[in-house]
Amino acid sequence: MAEQTRKVLFSKERIAAEINRLAKEISNDYGNQEIMLVGVLKGSFLFVADLIREIKSPAVIDFVRLASYGAGTKTSGKVELRKDLEMSIKDRHVIIVEDIIDSGYTLQFLYKELLQRQPKSLKICTLIDKSIRREVDIKADYIGISMEDGFIIGYGLDHNEKYRDLPDIYLIEE
Ligand code: IMP
Ligand code: MG
Repeated sequence: MAEQTRKVLFSKERIAAEINRLAKEISNDYGNQEIMLVGVLKGSFLFVADLIREIKSPAVIDFVRLASYGAGTKTSGKVELRKDLEMSIKDRHVIIVEDIIDSGYTLQFLYKELLQRQPKSLKICTLIDKSIRREVDIKADYIGISMEDGFIIGYGLDHNEKYRDLPDIYLIEE
């Protein structure tokens, strides 16, 4: 990606402020009940790391790795579970922690899969919501930042596995 095509869309300060707000909302909702955060790899690795440190409620963590077939900037709608949870979610308060919801296929797949395992409750927290791009009916309970169209990178988000290490989120201009 050429330097001149990079534009900071959400700064690390903005991201930190939104995470602080989300953590307060979650801590208020769950109080002293234990939460299990399910981080969706790889994109959410920084988000879930920052979020869990701000949440006051007792929290445990596990991860899944999901992938939609194909590279590039468009989803194919076909999702596969590449790495399953190691812990049982039965009778736990579970929050799926996702980097971004675009078409919604990835989360719809995961939500249905986890619901079958009988958690006590199941909610969704996403850092970024591109709601106008939704192709299936799925909504997040906790939303960091809503945005319109456009492909973004940084703070865990990649383009062909690159740029996950950038502290800010950038818009890739077409
Ligand atoms: P969905 O299944 O279309 O909702 O796509 C969700 C997944 O696609 C996310 O978890 C990301 O991994 C990826 N994705 C969607 N939009 C972007 C983006 O703008 N930048 C980087 N990854 C994205
Ligand atoms: Mg992802």
